[in-house]
Amino acid sequence: MDFNNFKELINKTRCTRRFKENQTISKQDLIDIVDLARVTSSAKNMQPLKYIVINDKKIVKEMADRVKWAAHLTSWDQSEDEQPSAFIVLVNDTSIDGFVMVDAGISLQTILLASRIKGYAGCALASIDKEFCKKEFNLASNLEPVLGIAIGIENEVLNVVDVQDNDTNYYRNDKDEHCVPKRALDEVLLGTY
Ligand SMILES: Cc1cc2nc3c(=O)[nH]c(=O)nc-3n(C[C@H](O)[C@H](O)[C@H](O)COP(=O)(O)O)c2cc1C
Repeated sequence: MDFNNFKELINKTRCTRRFKENQTISKQDLIDIVDLARVTSSAKNMQPLKYIVINDKKIVKEMADRVKWAAHLTSWDQSEDEQPSAFIVLVNDTSIDGFVMVDAGISLQTILLASRIKGYAGCALASIDKEFCKKEFNLASNLEPVLGIAIGIENEVLNVVDVQDNDTNYYRNDKDEHCVPKRALDEVLLGTY
């Protein structure tokens, strides 16, 4: 893969919230993705993250129903026929020292990119119901869910657009496409020395 291919992959790896219904993502695909996340960088290489993969339709639905989808889209909520096909939950093993949120960020992006390469789309979700996960997956008291990632086949158009008037809120345009404003390079690049 050259730089331009990688650039395209990064740009196409968007948080997606409208998925095609009745799709199955195999457990093996999800495990392959976690197997990549497993070898990414970790503060002090402590690796406090553990993973749960879910493609059981009933559990996926229960999890999707409980998510707070798209806080900025106040007149939209995900409907049943837009739900994802799978979830991966990142779990902090609090018995292991570490810098878990940075590790989780690295793992998240790896999972989103790997999903994309496999033809899926994902969405990072801080708002998964962590108490539900603890009960449903019988997590021991040292295991704290930190982040969910919904995975499915995308069923929406997503665009990266420029931030206007310092407004970074994502929105849907008049074609019902999801638009994600990103700050311009000259705003974020503080200097070159
Ligand atoms: C740590 C983290 C937590 C997030 N939690 C949620 C969430 O609970 N619900 C949701 O709909 N989107 C969530 N998102 C998705 C963000 O809204 C999304 O990343 C942002 O709008 C930018 O879009 P992009 O990922 O396509 O660049 C989360 C993203 C991150 C990185």
